[in-house]
Amino acid sequence: MTKELGVGIIGCGNISTTYFSLAPLFKGLKVVACADLNMQAAEARAAEYGVKAQTIEDLLTNEEVDVVVNLTIPDAHFPVSKAILLSGKHVYSEKPLVLTLEQGEELRRIAKEKNLSVGCAPDTFLGGAHQLARKYIDEGGIGRVTSGACYVMSPGMEMWHPNPDFFFLPGGGPILDLGPYYIANLINLIGPVKRVGAMTSMASPTRTITSEPRNGETIPVKTPTTIQAILEFVNGATVTLTASWDVWSHRHANMELYGTDGSLYVPDPNFFGGVVEASGRDKDIKPLDGWEHPFGISNQESPQGPRANYRTAGLADMAMAIIEGRDARCSLDRTLHGVDVMTSILKSGEEGRFIELTTTCTQPAALGIEEAQALLK
Ligand SMILES: NC(=O)c1ccc[n+]([C@@H]2O[C@H](COP(=O)([O-])OP(=O)(O)OC[C@H]3O[C@@H](n4cnc5c(N)ncnc54)[C@H](O)[C@@H]3O)[C@@H](O)[C@H]2O)c1
Repeated sequence: MTKELGVGIIGCGNISTTYFSLAPLFKGLKVVACADLNMQAAEARAAEYGVKAQTIEDLLTNEEVDVVVNLTIPDAHFPVSKAILLSGKHVYSEKPLVLTLEQGEELRRIAKEKNLSVGCAPDTFLGGAHQLARKYIDEGGIGRVTSGACYVMSPGMEMWHPNPDFFFLPGGGPILDLGPYYIANLINLIGPVKRVGAMTSMASPTRTITSEPRNGETIPVKTPTTIQAILEFVNGATVTLTASWDVWSHRHANMELYGTDGSLYVPDPNFFGGVVEASGRDKDIKPLDGWEHPFGISNQESPQGPRANYRTAGLADMAMAIIEGRDARCSLDRTLHGVDVMTSILKSGEEGRFIELTTTCTQPAALGIEEAQALLK
């Protein structure tokens, strides 16, 4: 039988149900306890999923817990992850890992000192669609990737989220909120980034909430809501990334990569599945199929139809990496490089110059059909 790591969850809000419900699909993980600043939230999840509700202090000294999943809000990620490491436990965090490079370097230092692992979402790049795109690129399907274009644009968050304030304050904004999915997938597909440049703006200094219960309330905007960035990769490819909450509708695809021998059309990096298409020099765009990746199989209903959702795969990969003594795909180095890309994009927008990145990383190992199957029970 595979060894299991005991998992504790801190932060029992919205996304925690995904972790509680999907963790049982994977080997190497056993969720044993949960905690939250709000004890009632922890107790509700504990009762729902048959685990123990604890105070944060008790969870951090619980000997059955080896790795703690940090599902708190972005602003709390750094102090909570730091406390987890100081208690001697591994950390797996929801995105963004931290809000500044300095915070990330501090986590790296403590983790190294204590010989602990730090991992972070997004893990959607482990999805069947993105691994198929990776395989196609690795096999030379479009030749050498030379450029690309990514778009993640919508009218915003104040029309659905009950408390959308944090999205429009420093630490929020579309680049830190949605950028992680795009940047993690670009690192998966192309590798690390060398430098970035960006222009940033906001359509309005205030937003009016139209969701309940605060319908009609005006909130301030203190961070850019439109970011037009260009990323130069270490391999020489240049990719544009537009992230905006100031766009009512558009016809841009999520991610297109252009190579010396063809083009690749990658579905939304926020999800595990979707159709990957490609063309060669003949310009004939066709879906790539015939590859039944376990993390591309629909396992949930959504308002848009059946959907593949394997969130927690990154945590499972990290647990197996700890057990097997290998590199985790959603590693600290890769995630922190992603934070460096995003914060440098914002800095470039402020300062009006290109920013050379100070961090780098390796491409994560591809996760083929057999490797994905090996993570599942
Ligand atoms: N909701 C989603 O669909 C979704 C999807 C992907 C990623 N995420 C990410 O997951 C994280 C959590 O999002 P959410 O939507 O679940 O938020 P949420 O506000 O619903 O839940 C956060 C929970 O964390 C608790 N909390 C806050 N600070 C804490 C602290 N210092 N110590 C202990 N508990 C604390 C809160 O009481 C709350 O119960 C965010 O980083 C978000 O970006 C969310």
